[in-house]
Amino acid sequence: MTKDKGTYYISTPIYYPSSNLHIGHTYCTVMADAMARFKRLQGYDVMFLTGTDEHGQKIQQYADAKGVTPQQYVDEVVAGIKELWKTMEISYDDFIRTTEPRHIKRVQALFMKMYEKGDIYKGEYEGWYCTPCESFWTENQLVDGKCPDCGRPVTKAKEEAYFFKMSKYADKLLELFRENPDFLVPETRRNEMVAFVEQGLEDLCISRSSFDWGIPVPIDEKHVIYVWLDALSNYITALGWPDEPEKYNHYWPADVHLVGKEIVRFHSLIWPAMLMSADLPLPKQVRGHGWLLLGGEKVSKSKAAKGQDVIDPVVLIERYGIDALKYFLLREYTFGQDGMFTNEVMLKRMNYDLANDLGNLVSRTVSMIEKYNGGFVPDLTEEGKCVPGEDGIDYDAQLKEVALGAAPKVEAQMDDFKFNMALEEIWVLVRRANKYIDETMPWVLAKDEASKPRLDNVLHNLAEAIRIISVLIHPFMHTTSDAIRKQMGLWYADVAWEDAFTFEAMCGEQVKKGDAIFPRLDIEKELEELYALGAQAAGGDVNIPLELKDEIVYDDFDKIDLRVGTILEAEKHPKADKLLVFQVKMGTEKRQIISGVSEYFKPEECIGKKVVVVANLKPRNLRGLESKGMILYADNEVDGKTRYEFVTTVAEDGNSVE
Ligand code: ME8
Repeated sequence: MTKDKGTYYISTPIYYPSSNLHIGHTYCTVMADAMARFKRLQGYDVMFLTGTDEHGQKIQQYADAKGVTPQQYVDEVVAGIKELWKTMEISYDDFIRTTEPRHIKRVQALFMKMYEKGDIYKGEYEGWYCTPCESFWTENQLVDGKCPDCGRPVTKAKEEAYFFKMSKYADKLLELFRENPDFLVPETRRNEMVAFVEQGLEDLCISRSSFDWGIPVPIDEKHVIYVWLDALSNYITALGWPDEPEKYNHYWPADVHLVGKEIVRFHSLIWPAMLMSADLPLPKQVRGHGWLLLGGEKVSKSKAAKGQDVIDPVVLIERYGIDALKYFLLREYTFGQDGMFTNEVMLKRMNYDLANDLGNLVSRTVSMIEKYNGGFVPDLTEEGKCVPGEDGIDYDAQLKEVALGAAPKVEAQMDDFKFNMALEEIWVLVRRANKYIDETMPWVLAKDEASKPRLDNVLHNLAEAIRIISVLIHPFMHTTSDAIRKQMGLWYADVAWEDAFTFEAMCGEQVKKGDAIFPRLDIEKELEELYALGAQAAGGDVNIPLELKDEIVYDDFDKIDLRVGTILEAEKHPKADKLLVFQVKMGTEKRQIISGVSEYFKPEECIGKKVVVVANLKPRNLRGLESKGMILYADNEVDGKTRYEFVTTVAEDGNSVE
């Protein structure tokens, strides 16, 4: 195998330091880290970039809520993020912060290049803005009046702004997808993006003037550059473009931008269009990964505050170790698809694959070499070869074949970012080696001195298999790989990928039993403790601003007449399954109110309930029946599912609610 295979540039998204990162961000970073380590081991000159996206309205709101400056706010969160990656031994080559001077001046340079091309003009933005996603939407793009990406409320934005002529690049983008199908994977995402462009691309608003936490527009200091333009540029500003272009010339274009599926649009449409405008080469590939879900919904920073399963990587690492968490994330999920995250699934993976399969293989083999050969890996001999028995199977040959076949299979899976399948290929060998112990029964061979040559060969073959496993798992779990190599007496040699392609490499190494590489977990007990920790975190010191609709003034509120009512009768609407028809008494008046809540309540359980009613709402006709007013409900989310509850009271009906 040749070293010096050329360069390989991989990036993660730069995360918002709005609060501490959770298991979802960890998932993406762990994948990028495994790929970077894998490529380095294969002889590539790797550039692995990550960082933080620190400007924008969202960060400004978080800082305001905490009563600190945005810079103070991000400095504290970013310190925690860097600490997390350090603990996890994430092998990034650079960490870019968008508040660094090197980034700021280069974003401005890129803006100027696009401006000088004639692609930027001034206008007025009028439309909707989703602050959590930091994205602009037109009225038509909204789904039920909410952000089509995240489903959260949007706010109206009307401000003077600069625009980028995105529409000019629509055809070129379609050509890119057509001629270079690997530019965006998986294919489902590519189809979505092609459809998005075909619907018609609007010019993109690329500055904000209603707040100031951002990089000033170089030609107009009243504006700050739109946070996505600022953030996407990181992939070249970190390389020194344009003023210190050495690294840029060496590593650009990037081999792959690894991103979550919700930000594929920014990376596969806006970013290439920006680069086209600046006459710069495009990245080779954008890969969109799926989401980790909790109770059916995307794990998110606000979910982290609600406390169900523990999703804080710091807590999980403290309890189970870095490698167990990394292994679980890489093994459990299929790249490109969403997957459920639960503590139980995680603990089972850790126990079955790591403690049982891998841990047992190593500890059994080391113990047997200590017990039967004084702690030294025996040499192979002709005499000790496997003589196939009645079943005709040459166990040694089979083990060797699986062991030598593993590395090319891992390479093929990694080419496709199939981390789970790459690990599965390695575990085929782990399981085969465990089976080899059961088949060859070294403890039986040890009873008869005449079988010593055969016993030696068996022990040798097991040592070889474990040596190969230690090489193969290195990109995914380097600490475990090192621990295994130490126990196997391989401490003298650095891990080299080509070592996975030879079988007869060991002779006379002194093995040494160490601690169990993965202790067995008591799953029931762990689950109990994790839930307690989750609940504690949920009740603790959490202060994340809620995502709300546009602010209203007191006069707006004062127009609403809220009254207490008592439900006298309730029945299903004869013409609409979702609707319940209530007869509500409010003081002297009895009236009919219809609500879309039949999936949450049976009619009979509503009778007698005291409820709060918006009494002066204009009456509406709902499927032939008049509804006069609106009953208030609280959305009570339980285990990720929406459930409505009445907003109820003990006050007398007819009384007003202030
Ligand atoms: O979008 N499952 O930052 P962000 C899997 N600053 N991955 C998840 C996840 C989940 N539940 N939640 C988050 C931003 N991620 C921008 C990026 S890049 C120029 C700017 C991962 O903090 C996933 O990779 O919201 C996702 O794309 C990323 O975190 C978003 O992180």
